[in-house]
Amino acid sequence: MKALIASGGRGTRLRPITHTQNKHLIPIANKPILFYAIETVVEAGIRDIGIVYNAESKEVPEFIGNGSKWGANISYLPQQKPGGLAQVVGLAESFMAGEPFIFYLGDNMVVGGVKRFIDEYERSKTNCFLTLAQVKDPERFGVPEIKNGRIIGVEEKPKSPKSQYAVAGIYLYDKHIFEAVRSLKPSMRGELEISDAHQWLIDNGYSIGYTEITGWWKDTGKPSDLLEANRLILDNIKPRIDGDVDKQSDVAGKVVIEAGAKIVNSKIRGPVIIGKDCVIENSYVGPFTAIGSRTQIRHSEVEYSIVLDECKILSVHTRIEGSILGHDVEIVESNGKPRVHRFMIGDQSRIEIT
Ligand code: DAU
Repeated sequence: MKALIASGGRGTRLRPITHTQNKHLIPIANKPILFYAIETVVEAGIRDIGIVYNAESKEVPEFIGNGSKWGANISYLPQQKPGGLAQVVGLAESFMAGEPFIFYLGDNMVVGGVKRFIDEYERSKTNCFLTLAQVKDPERFGVPEIKNGRIIGVEEKPKSPKSQYAVAGIYLYDKHIFEAVRSLKPSMRGELEISDAHQWLIDNGYSIGYTEITGWWKDTGKPSDLLEANRLILDNIKPRIDGDVDKQSDVAGKVVIEAGAKIVNSKIRGPVIIGKDCVIENSYVGPFTAIGSRTQIRHSEVEYSIVLDECKILSVHTRIEGSILGHDVEIVESNGKPRVHRFMIGDQSRIEIT
């Protein structure tokens, strides 16, 4: 069994962060999303991993490396333009060399790993095995139609979904998937859809099995999904304090404070992670917040947020909540008169003020 991980695409729904960073490298609880995908397949016993990346940037291969960090061999497969998930699969045909494989979308996160799905797939002896999750908004996903316990159809982002299930971004295939992707034509949005490949397998008499994901699964496509994934991972974090906390500070709950970080006269209410060499002074950091390295928070309050490296939040008098701050962002008090808001904001940013 090999693994194929998708890390291309455009990440348009996560702009502006994705203007300067691949969405798969955005940290959740201070660890890039893609690391979770790699760890999950390695934990299931897979060592040969192919990662498809957008050929316009070498950021992913450069950042992830050859896989030795995880005891894995990672090969990189460039995708010239984001042409859809079936195209991603097609790029991996020679890498798979006839072996069955797990296809894992690099922006999906699942608690409990994928070993169970691999075992079920192997037992099922099917050509294709899908993982399904009940969702409130199936129209955002690939949606199966199920009759008498069998999948009889799959539609991509249907206006009138035929079930309450999303096809999650964790798929298991044998070599017949390559026949399917070779037969596809681009959809209305110009992509080779993975749901159309599944429909092709059904139409051509191949067997499709499925299992339900009963635990937590998330497609981190939108900012609110990132915050929720961050909440869940932090909720299970093992507390550890390697930085300095002074006597005037009060740290409670599950909190990780990395080496070199300084907490001065502040209140930290876990679950929280504070990265290396941060300074938190006269401030409050509340539950479900991840702060990257070398960030400074002084005379301010932050809760339920993701703050990347090297930010400055200085004397902000209203609590910052439900926010995602990219690298090197500054939110500071303006001292001049008249009292005004002064902004220096990149493309497609969003700010809510009172
Ligand atoms: O998350 C599950 C859903 O993922 C499925 O239910 C849908 O059937 C499937 O089409 C997909 O829908 P999304 O709209 O979420 O796909 P998205 O464009 O966000 O891409 C998913 C991942 O694949 C993401 O990690 C980026 C990567 N990707 C995407 C495309 C279109 C590529 O590597 N190359 C591509 O060409």
